[in-house]
Amino acid sequence: MDAKTPSQSRTIMTDIVLPGETNILKNLFGGELLARMDRAASIAAGRHSGGITVTASVNQVAFSQAVPSGSVVTLEAAVSRAFGSSMEVFIDVWIENRFDGKRTKANEGIYTFVALDENGKTTKVPALLPETELEKERFEAALRRRQLSLVLAGKMKPTEATELRALFMGEAP
Ligand SMILES: CC(C)(COP(=O)(O)OP(=O)(O)OC[C@H]1O[C@@H](n2cnc3c(N)ncnc32)[C@H](O)[C@@H]1OP(=O)(O)O)[C@@H](O)C(=O)NCCC(=O)NCCS
Repeated sequence: MDAKTPSQSRTIMTDIVLPGETNILKNLFGGELLARMDRAASIAAGRHSGGITVTASVNQVAFSQAVPSGSVVTLEAAVSRAFGSSMEVFIDVWIENRFDGKRTKANEGIYTFVALDENGKTTKVPALLPETELEKERFEAALRRRQLSLVLAGKMKPTEATELRALFMGEAP
């Protein structure tokens, strides 16, 4: 199975925020943004794995900036690291200024997807080869995020989370 680069899974979705998708302050409802991120990430994970994928966990979402009604929003998703059957997908959310076309980063999310075969069993995915500096940074940090997610889900003992221990306790991984 040949390794793939993040650009091979990059998925770009541009859409407008309609009034029915906003909260009482007329900003994009958080759950609506989560769903949009999930859709973009699901396509990216499918492009990387070449098969069926499901969302296994939402590892991190930062709603740093409100997205007002009428905004033109672009989501950019790409696989940031592949493990066995699981993949981390990073989603950047940008708002476009209607007048000068400039984009500003509004939010980001990090999801984990798992590849399944036609019988619903987990199946291996290609390795990921990061190319740019940002892709390399995200690739490195993905291991810590995977360990944190698995510890919180009760699927890994904290003592086995070597990268986290190195981060918090200065131990060699
Ligand atoms: C995701 C799912 C396939 C995992 O099944 P499972 O029996 O727990 O599988 P495993 O324990 O063998 O884990 C499979 C992979 O998922 C990863 N994984 C499981 N839970 C995870 C979590 N909370 N965070 C990060 N990775 C996780 C494991 O590390 C493993 O990765 P690897 O193969 O790269 O090592 C299963 O829980 C499922 O089908 N969930 C429902 C998915 C769904 O329907 N999503 C839509 C929203 S409802």
